[in-house]
Amino acid sequence: MSEFIHVSVAWPYANGDLHVGHLAGAYLPADIFARYHRLKGNHVLMVSGSDSHGTPISVEADKFGVTPRDLFERYHSRFLTTQRDVGISYDLFTHTDTENHHHIARDVFLKLLERGYLFRQTQQQLYSESQHRFLPDRLVEGTCYICGFNDARGDQCDNCGTLLDATKLINPRSKLDGSTPVIRETEHYFFDLPAFGERLQQYLQWAGRSGHWRDNVLNFSTNYAENLQPRAITRDLDWGINVPLEGWEDKRLYVWFEAVMGYLTASIEWAHNIGRPDAWKDWWYNPDAKIYNFIGKDNIPFHTVIWPAELMGISGIYDTDSRPISLPYDVPANEFMNIEGRQFSKSRNWAIWLPDILTRYQPDAIRYYVTMTFPETRDSDFAWDGFFSRINNELVAAWGNLVNRMLGFASKRFDNAVPTPGELTDEDRAILALSVATVTSVGDLIAAVKLRAGLQEAMRVVQEANVYLDRRAPWKLINTDPQAAATVVYVILRVIDNLKIALAPYLPFTAQQLHTMLGYPDRLFGEQQIVVYQEAERSHEALVLDNSSAAGTWEPSELPSGQKFGPITPLFVKLDESIIDEERSRLGAPREL
Ligand code: MF3
Ligand code: ZN
Repeated sequence: MSEFIHVSVAWPYANGDLHVGHLAGAYLPADIFARYHRLKGNHVLMVSGSDSHGTPISVEADKFGVTPRDLFERYHSRFLTTQRDVGISYDLFTHTDTENHHHIARDVFLKLLERGYLFRQTQQQLYSESQHRFLPDRLVEGTCYICGFNDARGDQCDNCGTLLDATKLINPRSKLDGSTPVIRETEHYFFDLPAFGERLQQYLQWAGRSGHWRDNVLNFSTNYAENLQPRAITRDLDWGINVPLEGWEDKRLYVWFEAVMGYLTASIEWAHNIGRPDAWKDWWYNPDAKIYNFIGKDNIPFHTVIWPAELMGISGIYDTDSRPISLPYDVPANEFMNIEGRQFSKSRNWAIWLPDILTRYQPDAIRYYVTMTFPETRDSDFAWDGFFSRINNELVAAWGNLVNRMLGFASKRFDNAVPTPGELTDEDRAILALSVATVTSVGDLIAAVKLRAGLQEAMRVVQEANVYLDRRAPWKLINTDPQAAATVVYVILRVIDNLKIALAPYLPFTAQQLHTMLGYPDRLFGEQQIVVYQEAERSHEALVLDNSSAAGTWEPSELPSGQKFGPITPLFVKLDESIIDEERSRLGAPREL
C-alpha cells in the first residue's frame, strides 16, 4: 500500500548563496529520500522555501544599502536556479513572504493566544539611540561579566562559553555602528513551552522507543525538553510578519516562530496551487502519514521541541473534524561539513558556493562526492583531492566506464539492441541476482535514512559487475563463442539497468541519460520548473515539480531482448588533476561575482 511521506526541508535564510554545507546538511539527503519514495510509488510532498525574515536578512540588507525585501528576493531567485540545476526536486519551494504564509502565521498566533498558550511580559533590552531600534543580542558586543573577555557577544561569550544576558555586558557596544546602547523596557508575547512539558516528554519517549531516531538528535532534544522556558515570540523590528493585534504595530513575529510553520503553510500553498485545496490534509491530518524533517544539527531543538509544541497548540486548525495534527515522525539531522579541514566561514570566504561549482562540474559528480561525504554521524570534510579521486576512480572509471564500454560494445556487435541470451551459467545468474537484491537493499537503506551506506552498497555491486565482466570478457568470447558473448552482454545490461534504479535517487541526471541510452522512451522523474504564482496583491517565483511525466518505478529491470538503444554518449567527464590546486586557491580568496 502506498504511504504518505512528507519531506520537510529546512528553509535557508535568503541572505547569501547556497553552498555545499547546505547541500550536505539538508537538501541533498531530503532529495535522495524523496526521489526514492516517489519511485517506490508513495505519495511524496517535499516542501521548503526561502526564510525571508529575521536579523540575518536585515543586517545583510543594511550592509548593501538595500531593503530586506530586495535582498531576499535576489537570493530567493538564485536559490531557485541553483536548486533546479543540482536537482533538488521540491514539489514546492516558495518563501515566507507570501500572503499565504503571512495569513496562516497570524492564524497560528491567534489560535495559540485563544487557547491560552501565549502571554505578555515586559523585558529589559538594549536599545540603540543612534539607530532608533532595539538590538538583537547577537548584534551587541562587550566585556564578559563572567571572565572579563573583551569581545563577548550579547548572547554568548566565545571565551568562557557562558550564555549571557546582554543587558549585563560591561561596556556594551553595537556591532552595527559601535555606539553605546542603553537599557529600555519592552513588552513581548511569550510562548508557554512549559505548558507542553508532559506532552513533549511523551512524544520524545515515543521517538526513543521507535528506534529510528538518531541518537544525537534524541539526546539533544531530551535534554532540551527537561528544562523548558517560555520563549519570546515577538521582536521589536520592522521587517517580518505583523503581530495581528492593535497596539503592536511596531513589533513582528520572531523569525523562528513563523519560519518552522512554513512546512505547513507551503503544504497548504501547494494544495491550493494544484487546485485541490484540501490535499495537504493527506499528510497533516492522517495518522499513518510520516513527516520527515531534514535539517542541520544547529536547528534540532526548533524541530524536535518548539515546532512540535506549536503543532500541539494548534492541533485541529482548519480541520472541521478537529483531528490531531501530525508531528514529525523523524528528524534526521546531519552534522556539519568542513572544507579542507576548516569550518565554513562566509566572511573569510572559506566556502564552496553551489552556483560557482555548478558551472565547472556535473551536478551528479557534486551529488556523488557530497553523498559519499555526508556528515550523517559526525562532522565530515570536503577535500578537493578526495573529490578528484572519487570522481575519476569511482564515477568515471568504475561506473561510467562499465556503462559506456558495454553499451558501446553491444551497440557495435549486436545491431544496436539488447541481444538475446542463451542459457545462463551459474556465474551469470549470480551477478544478476546480486543486482536484483541490490535494488531492495539500497531501498531499505534509503528508507532508514542511511543514505551514504545506500550509495556505498550500490557502488560495491558496480565493482562486482566489473569483476564479472573481466572474468567473462565478452570481447574475447565473441570470437570463440558468440552465443556465450551475447549472454554475457545481455546479463550485464540487465545488471546495469538494475544499478541505474538503485543509483537514480543519488544521480538523477545520469540515471535519466542511461535510461534513454538503454532505449526507454520515458522519464524516471518529473520535470522541475520555475513558475510565477499570483496572489491577491503580489506575485512570487517558486520551484515546482511537474510529476505528470514521471514513469520510473523501484522495480528490478525487465529490459527486453531486441530493445533498440538510444544515442550512446559518455555519462561522466573525467577531471584533470589541476582542478585540485585551482579549487584550493579559490578558498579564502575574494569571490568573483
Ligand atoms: N533559516 C534557518 C537557518 O538557515 C533555518 C530555518 S528552518 C525552519 O538556519 F524550519 F525554520 F524553516
Ligand atoms: Zn566570558
